[in-house]
Amino acid sequence: MVIAIDGPSGVGKGTVARAVAAALGYRHVDTGVMYRAVAWKAGREQVPLGDEAAIADVAERTDVEASGTALRVDGEDVSAAIRTPEIDRAAALVARLPRVRAVLVAKQRRLGSAGRVVMEGRDIGTVVFPDAAVKIYLDAAPEERARRRSLDPAHAGSHDLATVRTELDARDRSDRTRSVAPLAMAPDAHLIDTTGLTVVEVVDRVMAIVRGTL
Ligand code: C5P
Repeated sequence: MVIAIDGPSGVGKGTVARAVAAALGYRHVDTGVMYRAVAWKAGREQVPLGDEAAIADVAERTDVEASGTALRVDGEDVSAAIRTPEIDRAAALVARLPRVRAVLVAKQRRLGSAGRVVMEGRDIGTVVFPDAAVKIYLDAAPEERARRRSLDPAHAGSHDLATVRTELDARDRSDRTRSVAPLAMAPDAHLIDTTGLTVVEVVDRVMAIVRGTL
């Protein structure tokens, strides 16, 4: 049983997916941290982000271990280091590389194969698990997503709303227009516009859809 939660940056997927997983006793898998981990490790190893074969090799060799909001890459705590504007940009760049996606999608399918998982990302319902039992697509107005992101204490960098909005727009554009697995809503996904909703309201809506489906 896989519950897929997709949507753009700053929409609150992480908070919602974590709460839904806890309510169901399912495992939570954040696939965004995998792209962030690859970008972080490529930076450390000084692998150019345009070198697709080398970055795919980094993806193969990267061990990601998440617990709650904490993240370890190859045993090192990178929870803060992967949530910076530099890694935002670098992760969106490595996410455009088809060979990198192939490596990470294979890992994600392995993680989901045991079932009882809530997996969040951009392409979970469209590419990773097109047969997911429940597909949710969270959206919100760009200004609201920028506001949420600017208030997120887990995210380093500028908290100036205009700067955050500019960076978010650039990342959205990159995620929506890439040739492989662009951010898009699966035709059979449930759309929830979270603009103006609280986290509790969004979680309640997702749980109602889950209960109505399972
Ligand atoms: O969700 P998060 O913002 O942490 O993801 C970081 C980046 O990783 C996104 O901007 C996107 O480019 C990429 N990503 C992706 N596919 C996923 C999850 C994340 O392309 N399933």
